[in-house]
Amino acid sequence: MTMHEPLREYSRTELYAEADAFIRDCYTELGRESEVENRLEKIADDIERRGYYEHTPFELKHGAKMAWRNSNRCIGRLFWQQLNVADARDCETAREVHEACCRHLEQARNGGNIKPMLTVFKPMINGQEQVRLWNYELLRYAGYRTEDGIVGDPDEVELTEYCQSRGWESDRSRFDILPHVVQIRDEKPELFEVPESAVGEVRLRHPDYEWFEDLGLRWYDLPVVSNMRMEIGGIHYTAAPFSGWYVSTEIGSRNFGDTDRYDMLPVIGKKLGLNTDSDRTLWKDEALLVLNRAVLHSFQEDGVQIVDHHTVTEQFEQFEHNEAGAGRDVTGDRAWLLPPMSSATTHVFENEYDNSIVKPNFFYQEAPAELSKRRESLGR
Ligand code: ARG
Repeated sequence: MTMHEPLREYSRTELYAEADAFIRDCYTELGRESEVENRLEKIADDIERRGYYEHTPFELKHGAKMAWRNSNRCIGRLFWQQLNVADARDCETAREVHEACCRHLEQARNGGNIKPMLTVFKPMINGQEQVRLWNYELLRYAGYRTEDGIVGDPDEVELTEYCQSRGWESDRSRFDILPHVVQIRDEKPELFEVPESAVGEVRLRHPDYEWFEDLGLRWYDLPVVSNMRMEIGGIHYTAAPFSGWYVSTEIGSRNFGDTDRYDMLPVIGKKLGLNTDSDRTLWKDEALLVLNRAVLHSFQEDGVQIVDHHTVTEQFEQFEHNEAGAGRDVTGDRAWLLPPMSSATTHVFENEYDNSIVKPNFFYQEAPAELSKRRESLGR
């Protein structure tokens, strides 16, 4: 999360142009061309009278699907048409937003048979943000600075310290779920503990190594990215948490493998009795493989949907075929589409992708000042 773009408000003329482009694309895809001119007249009128317009439920639903389809870094786009959209634009209070987030967690989890889902809150109105989630994801583990290094997820130290400054108390374990931090307009954010009924976790074990379980590793079942802005037809949805299911490498290679995250490769390498003094023994590669197999095995045994990096890349190839068939160009960010292990075994390795940004889409947004201030003081 390094690219944070400051949000520039559209002028009325620009907003109308964005709306015009979106409405034409959206209605054409849905076979509603005959309604375009009426709808655009109404939008022009709304913008003139109030400075903004509102999406109808079907515009919002299809716009969100288009935003997913246009997400250059996402390898899971084959299923874009199956996105479930929860319209939560009527949530007024921080508590209502938190409760809608908990419903998202339960409905998207669907007992392990995970459904792709997006919950959308009030968009920015005339330059004023209405809702903002300070969390990177709706489920994430806290990170604590201690004398012997960071305990938990190093990526969450600033949010954790902010929560503590607001009186949040926890077990200070490696796997404490952070509270939801919800901001309404320019009010002070409110904190809400995530109830157990909204949390799902998988304890990691390995099909061949009994000691693996004793490492005490676990991960949550649903990745619900909650800090991005969804832009549809010139409207900025600053709170629109979305989730699919995990690709095993996200957990096995990155969350546990990265040296600036849980940094588990040295521990696993030693458990495997590998010589970790020399890169040439490929101990990191062996440890990565063991970790990734443990993730897939454990999620599968617990009945929680997950996909491996080979299968998801094949699904992406199908998406590329489908899009060509629909007469649309696929845009992509190759560095992100490549899996973080065995990349050359996938078709993406041989391909080139056009990384232009098509809207609707998801964008990074500037982190709340309080968090970026803390990040700087951590020297990151
Ligand atoms: N990489 C992020 C994580 O490990 C999740 C990003 C979204 N991933 C997904 N499969 N929808 O939590």
